[in-house]
Amino acid sequence: MSQLSSDLPAFPMQKAKGCPLDPPPEYAELRTERPVAKARLWDGKEVWLITGYDEIRSIFTDPRISVDNTQPGYPWLSEQAKTVVLTGGVTPVGRMDPPEHTAMRRMLGQGFLVKKIQGMRGELEALVNGLIDDIMAGPRPVDLVAALAMPVPATALGWILGVPPADQRLISLVPRLFDEDSGLDGAMAARAELFKYMEDLITLKESDPGDDIISTLVGYHRQGELSRPSVLIQSVTLVAAALDTTRSMITNGILALLQHPEQAAALIANPDLAPAAVEELLRYTVVTEFASKRVAAADIEIAGETIKAGDGIICLISAGNRDEKVFTDPDTLDIRRSPRQHLGFGAGIHTCIGKQLARMELEVVYGTLFRRIPGLRLAVPFDEVVFRNTFDVQGAKALPVTW
Ligand code: HEM
Repeated sequence: MSQLSSDLPAFPMQKAKGCPLDPPPEYAELRTERPVAKARLWDGKEVWLITGYDEIRSIFTDPRISVDNTQPGYPWLSEQAKTVVLTGGVTPVGRMDPPEHTAMRRMLGQGFLVKKIQGMRGELEALVNGLIDDIMAGPRPVDLVAALAMPVPATALGWILGVPPADQRLISLVPRLFDEDSGLDGAMAARAELFKYMEDLITLKESDPGDDIISTLVGYHRQGELSRPSVLIQSVTLVAAALDTTRSMITNGILALLQHPEQAAALIANPDLAPAAVEELLRYTVVTEFASKRVAAADIEIAGETIKAGDGIICLISAGNRDEKVFTDPDTLDIRRSPRQHLGFGAGIHTCIGKQLARMELEVVYGTLFRRIPGLRLAVPFDEVVFRNTFDVQGAKALPVTW
C-alpha cells in the first residue's frame, strides 16, 4: 500500500448530524460497492476498511491476520492513542498473536468462568437497585453517566479483580483516563495513577491472595508461566477494556431506548425481553467502532482485493452490524429480534473475554432502570446530548434525564 493515491476517502468518516448512534452514511455505500476498500488515515498512511459482515468475520478468524501494534503498518488513529496505548515492550492480551495469545487467554479465562460471573448476579442486582434508589431520592435532572453508567462497570470489575469493597478509586479514574477533556497530559497522569493503583493491588494479592483474577495471575507468575510486568499489563488492560466500553454501552443503550419510546415500552411491558434487548442494542449502537485494528501477516485475497502482507486493516463493526445480507431492516431498532450473531463483541480468538459480564451488567441495568422508572425521559433535546470520541470508544459524555 505504499503508492500514494490522493483520491482515497479520509478516515475516520463523520457521522450524520443528529445521528450519533448511527454509523457514518459512507459505510453503507462502501459495504454495497466495496466491502473491502482503501482509505487514508490522519498520518497519510493507507488502511483497508472492512465493512461487510462476512468479510469482517473472515478477517477476525483468519490466522494470517495479526493484532501486533508494533508493526509499521498498524493503523493508529491519532498520535495521542499511540502514546497512551503503547505499553513499553510488554504485550497486552489484545495485541498478542498465537501461540502467546492462546496461553494468555487460558490464564485470564479463569477469572471469567460462566459460573463465577453468574454467581455475581445477586450482588449486581443489589448494586443497581441501590444506585437507582439514590437516583430516585436525589434532585432532577440527574446525569445517568455519573450516577449509573460509571459506578456499575467499575464496581463489577472490582469484584473480578478482587478490589477491597471500600476502595472506590477505579470509579474516579475512569473519566480522567478516557475523556478527551483531560488531554494528553491528563490522560498520561491518570494512566500513571492506574499503573500505581494496580501495582499496589498486585502487591496486596501477593501477600493475601483471594478468589480473583489478580491472584490467579500472581499464581501463574509464581509457577514461572507469566512475567511480573505481564501480570501488571494484563491487569491494567482489563480496566482499559472493561470500563469505557461498558459505561458507553450502558449510556448509549439507554439513549437509544429513550429515542425509541415504543421499544422502551415493549421492554417495560415484558421484562423477559431484556436479554434480547441487550443483543439488539449491542448490534444497533456499537461503541467500539475502531477497536478492531489488524495488520496482514501474509497476502490475502478477499472480496476481489489483495491485502498485502504488512497492510493495516480496520474492521468496522458498526458497518457489519448493519449489513442487510444478515439483518433484516438493519437500520431499525427492534429489541425482539435477538441478533446473537452481531459483531459487538468481535469474533474469533480475540472475541471479548468480558462479554458474559458485560451482557449481565447491561441486562440488569436496562431491565431494572426501565421497570423502576417507567416515566424516564431525556431532560434535554436528543441533539444536545454531547458525545465523546476519544480513542476507540464512543459514548455520551453526560445523559441528563428526568421522569
Ligand atoms: C459492553 C461492553 C463491552 C464491549 C462492547 C466490548 C467489546 C469488545 C470487542 C469488540 C473486542 C474485540 C476487539 C478486537 O477484535 O480487536 C473486545 C475484546 C476484549 N475485551 Fe471487551 N467489550 C466490553 C466489555 C468488556 C469487559 C467487561 C471486559 C473485562 C472485564 C472486557 C475485556 C476485553 C479484553 C481483555 C479483550 C481482548 C481479548 C483478546 O484480545 O483476546 N471487555 N471487547
